[in-house]
Amino acid sequence: MNVETRINSALNVRGHFPAIPEGWHYLDSAATAQKPQAVIDAITRAYGHDYATVHRGVYERSAAMTQSFEAARAAAASLIGGAEHEIVFARGATEAINLVAQSWGGTFLKRGDRILLSALEHHSNIVPWQIVAARTGALIDVCPLTDDGQIDLDAAEAMLTEKHKLVAFAHVSNVLGSILDAKRAAALAHNVGAKLLLDGCQAAPRLPVDVAAIDCDFYVLSAHKIYGPTGIGALWARAGILDSMPPYQGGGAMIDRVTFEKTTYLPAPSRFEAGTPHIAGAIGFHAAIDWTRAIGLDALHAHETALVREARTALRSVPGVTLFGPEDSAGIVSFALAGVHPHDIGTILDDEGVAIRAGHHCAQPLMDLLGVPATARASFAAHSDAADIEALVRGLHKVKRIFG
Ligand SMILES: Cc1ncc(COP(=O)(O)O)c(C=O)c1O
Repeated sequence: MNVETRINSALNVRGHFPAIPEGWHYLDSAATAQKPQAVIDAITRAYGHDYATVHRGVYERSAAMTQSFEAARAAAASLIGGAEHEIVFARGATEAINLVAQSWGGTFLKRGDRILLSALEHHSNIVPWQIVAARTGALIDVCPLTDDGQIDLDAAEAMLTEKHKLVAFAHVSNVLGSILDAKRAAALAHNVGAKLLLDGCQAAPRLPVDVAAIDCDFYVLSAHKIYGPTGIGALWARAGILDSMPPYQGGGAMIDRVTFEKTTYLPAPSRFEAGTPHIAGAIGFHAAIDWTRAIGLDALHAHETALVREARTALRSVPGVTLFGPEDSAGIVSFALAGVHPHDIGTILDDEGVAIRAGHHCAQPLMDLLGVPATARASFAAHSDAADIEALVRGLHKVKRIFG
């Protein structure tokens, strides 16, 4: 069986995606995933049939909506092997990391404490730590990468000291696709008494994740990368840790009793969910999790790994292409074409019906390390197939013809 047959037969779900017309090649799933009809239907039903507020209504519709909302929390927990009461809904991974930085970091980080990040982090896993470091006097260290673009855990081991209170790494890089040895990262962090936060934005749609087996302390994800809606994501944190954290935002839905003299708060996770939540978003997220799990994360991972292997081989056949990242990256391939800015690559590919991402991918420190202002990035999903790779390579030959 050749690679093309294998890839096409692995997952046959393109028909589930109404926003991907025939002949259009969507290779930007790392930015945001297209939505299967099942997710669109769940959101339409939530607004068009079942809609009401949650947690507060005394009427039956509201009670039913509350059940659906809480069922979404259970689904998010079970996607990553956590418990329901350990999941806090947030607007996305960005807000979830800010929550940890402001609440946990603001409480437990002291002057002279250290935070270890890596050179490949998304700005969402850099800037919140810079803000809390400025507030608390904590210091940030940056773990280097191996030559093939993995977080260098040998270097991390050598860098970590008792002063480190937190290690925050991407589980999968959004630029290079590199997969972290998360278990080892957790062991290294815990060896010095630090907590480990994993940015699971790119891992959760691509790999089976089990926070208990990894033994991390915080895990964040965004629904829109996992075939779900924008505006919702989740923070998982060990229950004991959540219980030790003060509220991050105040408002309705997070309080026990309010007087002008003193306010008391609900236990976690409610304490961290001030205001009316993204109700339909949670229901869409649940549908997306069900859809993803029905395909199976092992199957998705195998599918995307085969596509990456095929894409890297095909891209190498185009003269002038430089590939970044490891050979076994998870669903994401970044590349450069000699003498052509990635924005020009992206624009010409768009004319050919191929949608890639061109830019710094919210990882400017990584671009500096790679010595480029930007990269072109193709990223895969359940609906991707060999025809997408062929169209990409055809498009790159056109770019080369145009740029001589
Ligand atoms: C690795 C990584 N971390 C964090 C984020 C931020 O996610 P969101 O914008 O959904 O909060 C992204 C999104 O691009 C990402 O790829």
